[in-house]
Amino acid sequence: MSDSGLFSIAIIGAGTMGRGIAQVAATSGHEVILFDQDPSMQEKAIEEIHKIFSMLVQKGKLEQSAADQIVKRIRSAQSISEFSSCGLVIEAIVEDQNVKQKLFSDLEQIVPPDAFLASNTSSLSITAIASTCRNQGRVFGMHFFNPAPLMPLVEIVPGLASKPEGTLELVKLIKSWGKIPVTVKDTPGFIVNRLARPFYGEAIRIYEEGWKGIPEGEEGFATIDWALREKGGFKMGPFELMDLIGNDINFTVTEMIWKLFFYDSKYKPSLTQKRLIEAKRFGKKSGQGYYSYRDGTNRANPMTDSALAESISERVIVMLINEAIEALYLRVASRDDLDLAMIRGVNYPKGLLKWCDEIGVAKVLSVLEDLHKTYGEERYRPNVLLRTMAAEGKKFYS
Ligand code: NAI
Repeated sequence: MSDSGLFSIAIIGAGTMGRGIAQVAATSGHEVILFDQDPSMQEKAIEEIHKIFSMLVQKGKLEQSAADQIVKRIRSAQSISEFSSCGLVIEAIVEDQNVKQKLFSDLEQIVPPDAFLASNTSSLSITAIASTCRNQGRVFGMHFFNPAPLMPLVEIVPGLASKPEGTLELVKLIKSWGKIPVTVKDTPGFIVNRLARPFYGEAIRIYEEGWKGIPEGEEGFATIDWALREKGGFKMGPFELMDLIGNDINFTVTEMIWKLFFYDSKYKPSLTQKRLIEAKRFGKKSGQGYYSYRDGTNRANPMTDSALAESISERVIVMLINEAIEALYLRVASRDDLDLAMIRGVNYPKGLLKWCDEIGVAKVLSVLEDLHKTYGEERYRPNVLLRTMAAEGKKFYS
């Protein structure tokens, strides 16, 4: 990969993610070559990118000449053999390890020896994808979020054999695109998808229990959502967010992380969400999820009990914090990257480790210990780092 920043970038897979990443790379000045095994997807992607730039021009956000320059930089390829002078390939094809491995092995025969090969996978191991390559040092994860042009965060994931200088180069590249890179070990869910699990899982658990008198049905979901917005400062509550993401997608991510962590019970998916999927209640997109969306909106009313909302919010937040502390303890990412990822990747009001300091390390531990004692379940076990820090009176940020 050259240092000029103007090397060309190949993108494979012109679906949701590939076309977004192509737009980002071209906007940052790179020549982009887009390939999809389905030529109609390439055409659609390029058409859609043209439309987006026409809209930006119409809205006065971009000069026509600048828009023309950007779209001119994107071209489609007939085959991956046209990638012979690329500095970086970003793969965004079907989420299948065997298909990705085959593609990466093919790519290494084509691209220059110093080109990087990156996968946008959400759930597969980068180490496994790289394992069939001869030069595994140049294979990385570059995990963009949807929609790629709007979401600032990119998780950079070195595999076991990736060369450390490569991580630094990709971090630099992503920064030069005006995006926010975080570096994360090749572990299930990387940072964001892993740390966010309790936001959904604990909220569902609280609902299932009817904790502290939470009613069944939409009023119950609305009560928990209200608590997390009002007391937690989240932009959306967990149930409205799951309905927006799609319960099918949200469930799949949870199930995948649970399996990849060898069925660790704290990630276990819920039957409540599974039943919704079986009933095709995917959320907003199907007109019904946790809520029903008559006229496109949800009209459920919450119980606006301030003390109840405090307890709900506290229980979910300590679970999120415990997950972040576990990731820090296991050196999945640095303190700063763990916090940055949740603020910029999923709009959390604060980084979770910073939040822990604000609540008080000892207080977080005591809430978790109470939950652990009450339920006797592994999901509430406080991480050893939390215990140690509380015992030593330490904070995450000095
Ligand atoms: P998509 O289904 O929208 O697009 C995938 C495209 O890849 C399709 O156009 C398909 O024709 C093409 N394709 C499949 N196999 C191919 C092959 N062997 N060679 C060339 N083209 C091939 O999928 P999407 O959502 O864009 O996801 C792509 C990747 O990005 C997956 O690994 C997914 O896990 C990951 N991802 C998806 C996110 C999302 O929100 N959709 C977010 C972050 C990562």
